Amino acid sequence: MTKKIAVIGGDGIGPEVVAEGVRLLETLREKRGWDLELKAFDLNADRYLKDGTTFPDEVAAEIRETCDAVLLGALGDPRVPDMAHARDILFGLRFGLDLYCNVRPITCLHDRLMPLKNVAAKDVDIMVFRENTEGIYVGMGGHFKKGTPDEIAIQEDVNTRKGVERILRAAFEFAKKNGKKTVHMADKHNAMKHAHELWIRAFREIAVEYPEIDAKHVFVDALCLFLVQDPTPFEVIVTCNLFGDIVTDLGAALQGGMGMAASANVNPGKVSLFEPVHGSAPPLTGKDIANPLATVLTVGMLLTHLGYAEEPQLIELVRQAVDTKNCTREVGGTLGTRATGQWIVGRLS
Ligand code: IPM
Ligand code: MN
Repeated sequence: MTKKIAVIGGDGIGPEVVAEGVRLLETLREKRGWDLELKAFDLNADRYLKDGTTFPDEVAAEIRETCDAVLLGALGDPRVPDMAHARDILFGLRFGLDLYCNVRPITCLHDRLMPLKNVAAKDVDIMVFRENTEGIYVGMGGHFKKGTPDEIAIQEDVNTRKGVERILRAAFEFAKKNGKKTVHMADKHNAMKHAHELWIRAFREIAVEYPEIDAKHVFVDALCLFLVQDPTPFEVIVTCNLFGDIVTDLGAALQGGMGMAASANVNPGKVSLFEPVHGSAPPLTGKDIANPLATVLTVGMLLTHLGYAEEPQLIELVRQAVDTKNCTREVGGTLGTRATGQWIVGRLS
């Protein structure tokens, strides 16, 4: 049966890194004889500025009904300061497809990329489960007396029993399947006595179902401190949408920067979205300097989702690219975006 992947380059460096992801997918299709269809969608700031289109219902329906996965570059353009198109497209996919697990590995693949002294790259191997359909991201709220000295801005933090439980369970299930010993849940129930009281209560209840796993609570501010002091004890972290966003940028710094951080937005068994964690990086655009390795790692996650066993090989090739300096400058290499992508596909078994 054909597997169909929707490809959205997006803005800035998005199309450049996604081109390397597509090169990789097309090479694997040829080498392995896979029945894989790639379909590009023109959804980005240029399109929005040209005809006002952000994320049309027909496209949403086509992706939902006919695709198995989406590969997205990045969204965000200085010409659209309110990010209207980016929010419609990104949140349209995350919420529309109910992609409740934002799975973001913090894996440091080479000692040269490790910014902490006395920490070995191989000892940093964390999986973050970021809730991806609730929290302050739902867009509920509004302005009152906007533009006056008395103005009020309200942004609601939405946490449902169902939403909290399913991300907690996803983290525990991952730990169980992968032989991890601990799961850390990060919240702020000391300050957020309603929303995060639900998180800590649900966490303690669900932990009982996994007696073999050490379920630990950590306040998110302390987690940031611990991750910088010594990230090595952490294996699985589960947290809400906003904290997951923040913690995974910190996590990107522990693996060599934004150019090395991969992510998957998943509803297990359903059409899911795969995007490097980095943004559109407007100043880097069109210069062939953006790091495509986060996209290579992201394609690895996408292929695992589709049932192909290529991810370990891609992780190993990324490690070798960094080791031999066949990578972009900010991770110690001398190559451009395209040459790095070419180097990877040239070494596929
Ligand atoms: C991310 C990004 C997005 C988020 C932005 C672009 C809305 O920072 O995917 O981490 O906050 O989720
Ligand atoms: Mn982010």
